[in-house]
Amino acid sequence: AAGRPLKGKRALVTAGPTFEPIDPVRGLTNRSSGKQGYAIAAALADLGAEVTLVSGPTALSAPPGVTRVDVETAAEMHAASMSTLPVDVAVMTAAVADWRVDDVASGKIKKAPGGPPMLSLIENPDILASVSSAKSKRPRLVIGFAAETSDLEAQARAKLSRKGCDWIVGNDVSDEVFGSDGNAVTLITRGGAKAWPRQSKAAVARALAARIAETLTD
Ligand code: C5P
Repeated sequence: AAGRPLKGKRALVTAGPTFEPIDPVRGLTNRSSGKQGYAIAAALADLGAEVTLVSGPTALSAPPGVTRVDVETAAEMHAASMSTLPVDVAVMTAAVADWRVDDVASGKIKKAPGGPPMLSLIENPDILASVSSAKSKRPRLVIGFAAETSDLEAQARAKLSRKGCDWIVGNDVSDEVFGSDGNAVTLITRGGAKAWPRQSKAAVARALAARIAETLTD
């Protein structure tokens, strides 16, 4: 059990972007390779957890021993995440589109002399906030990510209270994060903040999984 401290624990990880259709051939999406989320799913599974990875479209394959649920839209990611509860820990790394197109066209929208179409957007559900406020099924530990280009700690701390989660992994995306293998993160908890040295996404994932194991086996 020493090597598998999360044996018997369940984990939900969301990862990747979401894709929100405009019509059958076009859509709105976010920039996210899914690498950090997949690495966290793998690290939790390595420690013995039973991991469900709810993933938007990525080029990655599921880590061994992880159950992957493929979704496209935020609404699908929300439904798949909520139906995975109860879990002991939820790690929400997905780059969820904030909005979706209100009225998705059933056929391809044509270029017309009248000019470009107007897209009307509506807000997507906040999956992290929903999981954090799940009544009897709230995970013991809910972890969100905050990708910021300035004021990382203050923004992340605001996000922690707004979303009702327990930890935020703050991500400085002002340089070289998207699609790259390295990451510089700050772990923000209710008690404080700690900047981790820049390291590979796999190393960030192992360190986070170790912290999760410590907390859940307390
Ligand atoms: O508000 P913002 O998108 O910056 O928050 C980022 C955090 O919230 C990430 O953990 C992300 O996975 C999560 N999130 C979510 N559902 C949304 C928007 C963000 O789960 N609709």
